Amino acid sequence: MTKKEWITMTTFADNYYVDRYQTDSLKWDGVEERFGDKELLPLWVADMDFQVPKEVQEKMQERINHGVFGYSLVPDEYVNSVISWQKRRHNVLIQKEWLRFCTGVVNALHYLIQGFTKEEEAVMIFSPVYYPFYDVVNENNRQLVVSDLMIEKGQYSIDFNDMEEKIKHHHVKALIFCSPHNPVGRVWTVEEMEKVALICQKYHVLLISDEIHQDFIHKNHVFTSFLGIEKVDLDQLIVLNSASKSFNLASLLHSHVLIPSDEMRATYDEFITTKISNPTSLMGVIATQASYEFGEKWLDELNQTIDDNFDLMTQTFKALLPEAIVYEKQGTYLSWVDLSYYVTQDKMKEIVQDKAKLAIDYGEWFGKQSGTFIRINLATHPNNIKLAVQHLEKAIKNS
Ligand SMILES: Cc1ncc(COP(=O)(O)O)c(C=O)c1O
Repeated sequence: MTKKEWITMTTFADNYYVDRYQTDSLKWDGVEERFGDKELLPLWVADMDFQVPKEVQEKMQERINHGVFGYSLVPDEYVNSVISWQKRRHNVLIQKEWLRFCTGVVNALHYLIQGFTKEEEAVMIFSPVYYPFYDVVNENNRQLVVSDLMIEKGQYSIDFNDMEEKIKHHHVKALIFCSPHNPVGRVWTVEEMEKVALICQKYHVLLISDEIHQDFIHKNHVFTSFLGIEKVDLDQLIVLNSASKSFNLASLLHSHVLIPSDEMRATYDEFITTKISNPTSLMGVIATQASYEFGEKWLDELNQTIDDNFDLMTQTFKALLPEAIVYEKQGTYLSWVDLSYYVTQDKMKEIVQDKAKLAIDYGEWFGKQSGTFIRINLATHPNNIKLAVQHLEKAIKNS
């Protein structure tokens, strides 16, 4: 990496990176509780070490100065900002009637599974996947049906035969789909998504698409929402998204549930009132609207920084641990790395945590076939990324 490239990539990081120690940050201050060691470099849970755009802080500050935080409405301007964002950034036209709210995407997944399927009914996920998808199915006493993604030519893909067979065999009622996919970093093509949707339609499977990572797309790839694909039956589709990942707002507990079907929307409305009296968060609404109205440039610079961090990580692996397999990151800010050449599954904790002193997400959390993988969160200062790979090399060399 040339000096010039390094300076460009550190500009955003230097402007927005903050020391999060002793701020009650799960990622930094929760390391000891999660990993049993507080001296680890945290690159795990998916939030970012960057401050939100200045305008977002200002809009929140304005509301804080007002000093009243009673029950609140969602203004039309908010809805317009969501519709405009989806049109501008993702070329998808959403109708304002479709929009509902929830206190986070994972909470929405729980409510959707409870509201749209019955106990013991089968719900499908693709593995490896964001581990709360397993919990959503298991904790609600639904039957978990897993279709493993395949690795073909160094890239993950869907095994459509397996998917269809299992849907038929288990009478699957709902599919929870991750797009872009955490942790493998795939941005699914329209062709792949059409196939998924057509199989779901054939067997009357409710398609729930978690599109929370939609704003992190590598420049060589294009994200398409299921809502924007003509062949998709909108009456069998629910899409979840949020500004929480894109703008680092997770603790504000605010997310979107997009339900085009009138009938399913009525079911959601009826069900959600039995669970939470108010599914909107005042600060979440304010921060999201400000992000969509003022955050575009910030987000573009952030995406560039994440792509640069990925390149830096890849180059450092190439130089220090050339047999590590770094999967192409088409989307998300997470990288997926297979260390099987250097480390056996039973030694992963010893090498990665005890010796390299890293707090990362282990592959086995996402799927039993991924025991020698690690997921590295790239939304941090490039120095942390470089350090992580250097620590790994030292640990592996000395093992
Ligand atoms: C695919 C996916 N869905 C949902 C979430 C969490 O969303 P929320 O904090 O809104 O529940 C994450 C966080 O990492 C995620 O990766």
